[in-house]
Amino acid sequence: MDYNYLMEKAIEVSKNAYAPYSKFPVGACILTDTDNIYCGCNFENASYGLTICAERNAIGSAVANGDRIVKAIAIYSPNQDNCTPCGACRQVLYEFSNKNLGLDVIVKIGEDLKIYKLSELLPEGFSL
Ligand code: THU
Repeated sequence: MDYNYLMEKAIEVSKNAYAPYSKFPVGACILTDTDNIYCGCNFENASYGLTICAERNAIGSAVANGDRIVKAIAIYSPNQDNCTPCGACRQVLYEFSNKNLGLDVIVKIGEDLKIYKLSELLPEGFSL
């Protein structure tokens, strides 16, 4: 799967973000081990702590559709280059990763894509 395509989808879904409080829209698009694609955007709430990040929204959609292993995720915000996932989302991504194969995290810097390994962003993630 072409990571440029995943990023295009992340850009597209970021336009649906509901972020009236932070005014920081985010889109995420994940690729599963079954080669399915799921997108999500952030959606905020007047009770700020109830905000759901784009990454967790996309993962929720994958799980609801029977997919549980994420191979890669593209994340985009029009407000910020190198929009890497927050700490909570890193741990949630770790839960739904293949611990041997790892998971690619794709962000945009200018016109370029940068690919991180989840293990770089979250060394020693927690698992039971
Ligand atoms: N946000 C995401 O959706 N993903 C991230 O990785 C970072 C933060 C959202 C949460 C909130 O709606 C807004 O961006 C500002 O924090």
